[in-house]
Amino acid sequence: MKKILISIIASVAAAFSASFPVRGQDMEWFSEAKLGIFIHWGIYAVDGISESWSFYNGYVPYDTYMAQTKRFLAENYDPHQWVSLIKESGARYTVITSKHHDGVALWNTAASKLSVPRQTPAGRDVLTPFVHEVRMAGLKLGLYYSLLDWSHPDYPNWTRTTTRYSIKDDPARWQRFVDFDFAQLRELSEAYRPDLLWFDGDWEQTAEDWHAPEIIKLLREYNPDIVVNSRIQGYGDYGTPEIGVPTTRPADRYWELCYTMNDSWGFQHKDTNFKTPEMIVRTLVDCISLGGNLLLDIGPRADGTIPEEEVSILKELGRWTSKHAEAVYPVRAGIPGGFVNAYTALNKDGSVLYLYFPYKPIGTLEVKGITNAVKSIRVVGSDTPLTWKIYNKLSWSEVPGLLDIEVPEEVLDPSMTVIAVELDGPIRLYQGAGKVITSN
Ligand code: GLC
Repeated sequence: MKKILISIIASVAAAFSASFPVRGQDMEWFSEAKLGIFIHWGIYAVDGISESWSFYNGYVPYDTYMAQTKRFLAENYDPHQWVSLIKESGARYTVITSKHHDGVALWNTAASKLSVPRQTPAGRDVLTPFVHEVRMAGLKLGLYYSLLDWSHPDYPNWTRTTTRYSIKDDPARWQRFVDFDFAQLRELSEAYRPDLLWFDGDWEQTAEDWHAPEIIKLLREYNPDIVVNSRIQGYGDYGTPEIGVPTTRPADRYWELCYTMNDSWGFQHKDTNFKTPEMIVRTLVDCISLGGNLLLDIGPRADGTIPEEEVSILKELGRWTSKHAEAVYPVRAGIPGGFVNAYTALNKDGSVLYLYFPYKPIGTLEVKGITNAVKSIRVVGSDTPLTWKIYNKLSWSEVPGLLDIEVPEEVLDPSMTVIAVELDGPIRLYQGAGKVITSN
């Protein structure tokens, strides 16, 4: 009996792992990528109102919202230029809204009439040429796809206060919607074989109603290594904190902060509250030091041009990431707070501690608690060697001395200076509370 049970468990486990391979190897590109560019582009850029939410929340009537389709021209859309800029920023992947909650697809979907090629004067599939450029540039392709679709006649939720029907009262109608989602996901998989699927809108239904495991299975038929974000009711590979920068390391092994440059995802001409390029570099470093990625959003205008403020941010990121590449891509989360007034990260084997600081230190930059011997210290980007001194290292005490690093003004970076502290082996930290001296 026991044997039969074990073999049943083993075969169930085998079947399970066949459809859900253990994550690991295929997450490597993702965890090394560090920076991705998110693109929210759709009809909402015409009037510059919030994507989908503006009608759902009743700020504008649905018909007024949808009337934007008639003025979406994309007349200056140049996907080559978009992708060159994304590549220049140092991003290793990009995620574009193939369909937001409003249901308007950027590609020529056969599953619905609601698409840019069919409903707008742009009159063409705007997704395929973008994907082509992404592939040519060697970037990883991510597709954002909203599971929910507030425009679809068989989707139950309609506005914040009204619903069309309830799933349990009309399962056949819900099934029609599920078939529609599957049809679109199959089209996207077949046509573009994305490296990453960025789901959104999962919160309105359960994993069971979405058929979440079957969705993952479908995606993996086309790309067994596909990376999927967490917004599919727990079936994804990584967490997606949004806008708010975490202050402690998130529990998810892999995570990505999705983040706006101003206060909007899509283009909104009234929103001029842009963060500065230096602030964005800082947020990228903040994510890196906590072991995550930054998925930074741009919102192109309806004509396809990218606002100047966004271009400047991408360019400054490009300058900074290319100069500091060794401290951006192949690194992992740094040491806990309290050891140094700087963001930190470590190289793979933990023997190089990177320190990132967006200021000019007054006097020296001081690090405490490092038990290792220091082999060398240099500025990342120029390899200028720096001098340092260890203070109060007592031979009889396990408490390490203070490491004081000279940082001359001429080595400072305009946004964020990075220095590499090379240790005699994997970092060992002293995390105690010190000791009373009993003999001297
Ligand atoms: C939110 C919103 C949406 C936005 C997305 C990006 O969940 O529904 O408008 O596209 O986050 O992270």
